[in-house]
Amino acid sequence: MTSGKTLNRINTPVKAGILGWPVTHSRSPLIHNYWLKMHGIEGSYEKLPATAEDFEKVVKGLVGAGYAGANVTAPHKEAAFALADFADASTTQLRAANLLVFKGGAIHASNTDGYGFLQSLGGGSDEAGYDKNWSTNPVALLGAGGASRAIIGALVDAGIPELRISNRTLEKIDTLRFLCEGTPTNISAVPWGDRAAMLEGCGLLVNTTSLGMSGQPPLDISLDRLPDFAAVVDIVYAPLETPLLKAAALKGLRAVDGLGMLLHQAVPSFAAWFGVKPEVTPELRRLIVTNLEGKS
Ligand code: ATR
Repeated sequence: MTSGKTLNRINTPVKAGILGWPVTHSRSPLIHNYWLKMHGIEGSYEKLPATAEDFEKVVKGLVGAGYAGANVTAPHKEAAFALADFADASTTQLRAANLLVFKGGAIHASNTDGYGFLQSLGGGSDEAGYDKNWSTNPVALLGAGGASRAIIGALVDAGIPELRISNRTLEKIDTLRFLCEGTPTNISAVPWGDRAAMLEGCGLLVNTTSLGMSGQPPLDISLDRLPDFAAVVDIVYAPLETPLLKAAALKGLRAVDGLGMLLHQAVPSFAAWFGVKPEVTPELRRLIVTNLEGKS
């Protein structure tokens, strides 16, 4: 791989896409086609609708049709991992994949969501000067659904000392405990009614619930207990500024929207299929924001 401008050793156009159901609203084609154009690579990235019933058949069809691979979104991330012939260690731990790479007829699975999350926080080793307070203090996380898993995995890998998780259905948190087993991270399950109190002393609050998303009720939580060095992340990106992020900004806290995670999780996928590590530029971000605002 190269981080140089253009590299396309392959003569036939490289094909990839995103598998999901529904997949109509995915912004991934916009991201990957922007990078293809920018690097002058002959390739394509398209929406690949697949129902749960058809998932395996569709994936095998893509392998047969010479695709380089595919991204995988809801509801297929677990199925993608189960179908793969190979998976890296962290993906095996998560038992869910968002990236498939086809090599010599075999399916390789990875999960780049955690990487995307850390990068969106400015946590990449190639980014200087980011505020590390969040990684040395307890982290508060809301939600225990599919989206929480890769984020918890990344936080544990980052070595956080304590993870407090609150979810409406408290018992669901138990299904996530395995992610902290054998690590220095202490995990605690907090009843939904106590979610504001758990923010005491936390360096980071992450919302992984669907609350705050367009068409959903806002996330109701007081940020009063959060220290002033804390950052607040909402993985929701439609709308870009959720009521939670608005409240965080009003309090003078660092507010991180979900678009950064979406953009950064795409980087390793593009690199794996097209051989170039692309950049998340302000121009790319503007392109997606314009699309989210319905202007393109
Ligand atoms: P995803 O895969 O995107 O995480 P999910 O698995 O449906 O989606 O999870 C959605 C998350 O939002 C869950 O944590 C869910 O809480 P429950 O586990 O109790 O269902 C949370 N959520 C959705 N609607 C909610 C609401 N009205 N109040 C509180 N939490 C809610």
